[in-house]
Amino acid sequence: MNAESIERSASGKIILCGEHSVVYGRPAIAVPVSTMRAYARIDPACKGSGLQIHALDLQQEFALKDAGDDDPLALGTRLVLEHLNAPEPDAILTLKSDLPIAAGLGSGASVAAAAARALGAALGTELSPEIISEVTYEVEKIHHGNPSGIDNTVIAWEKPVYFVRGTAPEILSIHTPFRLLIAYSGIASSTRAAVAEVRRRWEMTPGYYDVVFDCIGAISKASRAALLQGTIRTLGALLNENHELLMKIGVSLPRMDNLIQAARGAGALGAKMTGSGHGGNIIALVDDATTAAVKAALTSAGAPRVWETMVG
Ligand code: MEV
Repeated sequence: MNAESIERSASGKIILCGEHSVVYGRPAIAVPVSTMRAYARIDPACKGSGLQIHALDLQQEFALKDAGDDDPLALGTRLVLEHLNAPEPDAILTLKSDLPIAAGLGSGASVAAAAARALGAALGTELSPEIISEVTYEVEKIHHGNPSGIDNTVIAWEKPVYFVRGTAPEILSIHTPFRLLIAYSGIASSTRAAVAEVRRRWEMTPGYYDVVFDCIGAISKASRAALLQGTIRTLGALLNENHELLMKIGVSLPRMDNLIQAARGAGALGAKMTGSGHGGNIIALVDDATTAAVKAALTSAGAPRVWETMVG
């Protein structure tokens, strides 16, 4: 175990297109939000103390040895120790995050990835993105039940990814960087509940849902082409189409639709909800000429917070 303190971090994420249908094997695209991060620090502690976990945002402090198998932070930590074949170190793992919880920006996955990175580094190994992704995926299963794997993948690689469940991700090189505004709806959302609700509806009318998922998959493919070619206006139109389909599967809310309308009305090139829905955030694609107006429109339409991020 390293005698110095070690700090590592992990980004948040946005699903650009393809949420929900990605759970059913259709492609989706996610991008990191590098300016909003989770941080993990490991400080050495006295001999025999074991690993103490301090999750500042959750106001939790506990010893790894006392945590149950279903504790996400403990699970990630145990998986890293198992992977490195290392005994539990005498240390304090402190976690904190800029990312709002239950807002679709990957806060749980990001904290897990930061913790895994910091623990690996403290034990002398910079863990690869593949391992970070695997560990984070296991943690995501506790948070979400049936995750597709897209969130842990984009956060572990911290690059835009074109993702199909069960296959290696394609890291996308973005031809023309673009700006997104992320606006919070003010409604906390549960990914687990939203994914379970979509599954319940899919089981009732699989034929209908499969057609919608196919359409969303086609949008993800077209968006991949737009990102590789730098056709940002086309991307905007595709985001709009994606939102209409997400409305059809019942995961948007009027509050989110209002924010999206406000963004489009103020000149956004495209806007949609992002993540599991039933609350959380919407994204708006903007350029230099429209950023200020769209931000103002989102705020006056009731978004309690608006962030800005560049992609690519
Ligand atoms: C959550 O960020 C994205 C969903 O598609 C769930 C998943 O892919 O696991 C809603």
